[in-house]
Amino acid sequence: MKELAEELNKRFKKSAPEEIIAWFLNEFDGKVAISSSMGVEDQIITHMAVNVKKDVDIFTLDTGRLFPETYDLIQQTNDHYGIRIHVYFPDNREVEDMVNTHGINLFYKSEANRKLCCDVRKLRPLARALKGLDAWICGLRTEQSVTRILTQHVEWDEKNGLIKVNPLSEWLEEEVWDYVHKHKVPYNPLHDKGFPSIGCQPCTRAVKPGEDVRSGRWWWETPEKKECGLHQR
Ligand code: ADX
Ligand code: SF4
Repeated sequence: MKELAEELNKRFKKSAPEEIIAWFLNEFDGKVAISSSMGVEDQIITHMAVNVKKDVDIFTLDTGRLFPETYDLIQQTNDHYGIRIHVYFPDNREVEDMVNTHGINLFYKSEANRKLCCDVRKLRPLARALKGLDAWICGLRTEQSVTRILTQHVEWDEKNGLIKVNPLSEWLEEEVWDYVHKHKVPYNPLHDKGFPSIGCQPCTRAVKPGEDVRSGRWWWETPEKKECGLHQR
């Protein structure tokens, strides 16, 4: 599979996102899913995918700490496209053990606590979501941060043992917003309020114009640490 990922990356190096998405949805039918944080990139991927296959498998990891606007967008997106985004929750006992041991807002206290929280609330549910799949489609862009400059259209995801597809990796922010407005893609209203990147509510804040798009995520940590583990670099 690793060789296949490299081969497909060469093949799709210069391809448009629509072409990449369509190919994977057809060729990996039943074995591929879209991983959506409900961020603007993922909304574009959902829009493109629904045009190819109405019953496309889209999942989102509900950490239990998302913004109210994000929950509204899940409902709005389902209604708009006539789809049902599959919601994965963390294990209730694991969350209870964690917060009763380390505190409800444990993530501010140490990097180890923050990683534990991301592990319990995101990574373990992600492992369930990816079970049985051969490929997952994500909305990473190289422009987003120092940790993402090497992102390829198609990659071998060593950690999770499957192919990872990043159809929008080459897109610039301007192209993202042009597409959204042109195609009337529903998006999170927080994007218009200074939130270019939206994760969990306690770990995301607005950024000032010109600041790095991910600088509002885990803002108390240094840039090279700002990954929750969904995307290892
Ligand atoms: S994160 O790793 O820091 O949270 P970011 O918010 O930039 O990532 O999103 C990058 C990609 O990771 C998204 O385009 C999406 O594919 C995936 N992703 C992030 N958060 C989630 C989530 N809660 N549920 C499903 N996929 C997610
Ligand atoms: Fe927990 Fe924050 Fe990670 Fe969300 S982003 S899972 S609240 S540490």
